[in-house]
Amino acid sequence: IANKNLLLMPGDGIGPEVMTQAKRVLNWLQETKRASFNIEEELVGGASIDAHGVPLTDAALAKAKAADAVLFGSVGGPKWDKVPFNIRPEAGLLKLRSELQVFANLRPAKVFDALAAASSLKPDLVRGLDIMIVRECIGGIYFGEPRGIETLPNGEQKGVNTEVYTTHEIQRVGRVAFELARKRQNRVCSVEKANVMEAGLLWRQVMTKLKAEEFPDVELSHMYADNCAMQLAKNPKQFDVIVTGNLFGDILSDLAAMLTGSLGLLPSATLGAKDASGRIPGFYEPIHGSAPDIAGKGVANPLAEVLSLAMLLRYSFDMQEDADAIEAAVERVLAKAGRTPDIKAEGRPTISTSEMGDALIAELRAI
Ligand code: NAD
Ligand code: IPM
Ligand code: MN
Repeated sequence: IANKNLLLMPGDGIGPEVMTQAKRVLNWLQETKRASFNIEEELVGGASIDAHGVPLTDAALAKAKAADAVLFGSVGGPKWDKVPFNIRPEAGLLKLRSELQVFANLRPAKVFDALAAASSLKPDLVRGLDIMIVRECIGGIYFGEPRGIETLPNGEQKGVNTEVYTTHEIQRVGRVAFELARKRQNRVCSVEKANVMEAGLLWRQVMTKLKAEEFPDVELSHMYADNCAMQLAKNPKQFDVIVTGNLFGDILSDLAAMLTGSLGLLPSATLGAKDASGRIPGFYEPIHGSAPDIAGKGVANPLAEVLSLAMLLRYSFDMQEDADAIEAAVERVLAKAGRTPDIKAEGRPTISTSEMGDALIAELRAI
């Protein structure tokens, strides 16, 4: 595929460290003539606040909109804890998702065979695990109005956020989940709190109707979010596709990540709807954050970022073979090479971010 426009947004903390390793994979793709990209890079988050006073400039947003796909690192950190709330680094990420209209955040939690014993759960509970969490990403309590902090007449303050979902918002993410399930084990578990929240009740009703009308062939179950957290820790293999709202999806995907051995392994793809020209906006990022506790030490696990690049090739550029090749190389690296400190060592040597990149590139060159 020739000259796809790719925007890289490394961000803060370990974002640039893991992005450096993803760039080596991009170089490998180009050197081996598997692909040719026009690659640009933009600041986002705290790095953009430092340079421009805002976490996302209009110019950076315009480039993201114009790109065929965006590969993102991570944002945030203690340095920017005191900046006004609406221009925090995280606001840049939320604005990007919202402006790109990428509503379906696919967070696959897959256990590599080599890491079955590295999970914090017993190996038998996670060996072969392959869950897809579909997290609604531009609605719900992250974006609902009213919101804010106000001062009450008695001098107390009130913090407000509002969970809001419309039929349309639920349907479009629900369709993504059902369609993915058809290519997997054909089972969707819809997760909300229909027992206490009207937005959750509507979510359940809309999902039930959607299944009946458009996906009668796909199995649908419903689960309350608190039970889902418990079930993920108890017997995660019962799940195929989980579809849920923004906040529950955020929390449940961090939990699911840990089942695989480390948060540093979980990639994501966030997709929007097809536009008039048939293009689907695609935004790709690891699910982890900027990891201030290890930033600058050269020990971050780069595999979530690299696997996010593989998802980008798969979903935005239809480069299935190359995505497969990268995922297979990651699997071989985990089976043979050392491990970054976030993964249980199990007697393996501890290696750095760049050494993990070296091992990965060596595997790719050997193809
Ligand atoms: P975090 O995901 O940054 O880190 C949680 C823990 O996991 C830390 O101990 C960290 O060292 C470890 N970890 C995360 N990624 C790792 C990797 N690739 N390799 C090795 N270890 C890794 O979450 P946090 O500490 O709650 O948040 C830190 C900052 O990141 C905050 O400012 C938060 O808002 C931001 N954040 C950003 C994103 C994003 O950009 N998508 C996601 C989550 C958090
Ligand atoms: C994530 C992060 C973000 C979220 C924050 C940093 C805005 O936690 O991508 O999982 O909550 O969506
Ligand atoms: Mn998160």
